[in-house]
Amino acid sequence: MIAEALHWALTPAPAWARRAGYLTELIAIQAQYGRWRRQWAPHLQESKDAIRAAMARCATRRHAMVYGSGPLLDIQLAELAANFEKVTLVDVAHLWPARLAARRFSNVRLVARDISGVAQGLLEGAAQGADGPPRPQPNLPQDHASVDFLVSANVLSQLAVTPLRFLSRHIVLSRDEALRFAADVARAHLAHLRQFDAVCCLITDTRRDFLSRDGAVHKTEEQLPGIVLPAHDRSWDWEIAPPGEISPEYSVRARMLCATILPGNDGQGRQNGAAGRLDTVWRQA
Ligand SMILES: C[S@@+](CC[C@H](N)C(=O)[O-])C[C@H]1O[C@@H](n2cnc3c(N)ncnc32)[C@H](O)[C@@H]1O
Repeated sequence: MIAEALHWALTPAPAWARRAGYLTELIAIQAQYGRWRRQWAPHLQESKDAIRAAMARCATRRHAMVYGSGPLLDIQLAELAANFEKVTLVDVAHLWPARLAARRFSNVRLVARDISGVAQGLLEGAAQGADGPPRPQPNLPQDHASVDFLVSANVLSQLAVTPLRFLSRHIVLSRDEALRFAADVARAHLAHLRQFDAVCCLITDTRRDFLSRDGAVHKTEEQLPGIVLPAHDRSWDWEIAPPGEISPEYSVRARMLCATILPGNDGQGRQNGAAGRLDTVWRQA
């Protein structure tokens, strides 16, 4: 608790990230890692291996951009910094451990940005008494044309979590409205990724299984209902919440996947026309 309060007080963060709850969520992830370091290790290794394999497919290596870099648990920063002229880490804010890690490399820069394009709309909506969620409008970064490698680092299913928590304090959304908003945010992110002419490594969870102590699946929650993802190269399980994290009786296992999408290829080995590129894979269900 004390460490979390210190992070809150000492982390340089944009006002919107504090007010909408993004900073709290980011600090909670770092704290959760502190509790489950050993259990998370295999997942973090899988993620690093997946990013390394995707990086190997980059023919040009000017600029690597990482979305959802967070506490850098799944990012081999030294490797990225050695392989690219420039590395940009993008998250809602950057905690001090990540800031200090980035300072070791002269070609790594940190950007605090809302990649979903909803944060501003959330705050304005709350101030103006809006009765629905904002429309996701991710902005293409100005330097997007220089990006040769883009990593979406386990952020896709998280993009709607903080906004929905914020909205629940201001308006009443039905389950269907909440699901629709989450799907809109996820689709907007996928459409945003395909605006880059870069090798894209998408890592995301797709499902969460709640397991009882005997290992039986008690309940399953889809993380991206209604979303069709690109064909994946790898998948693995992540023991995200061992017993004791959310309940003494249940643990939670996340199903993870990594999809590597090459420029000019739809991720399933077929070439698309130049205009269509990845669109056929990232279509909505
Ligand atoms: C599950 S964590 C993964 C963090 C990181 N990849 C790691 O494993 O160390 C999701 C990350 O996405 C970030 N995030 C969530 N919503 C975001 C948004 N709208 N814009 C930018 N980053 C966001 C969170 O702050 C968090 O760092």
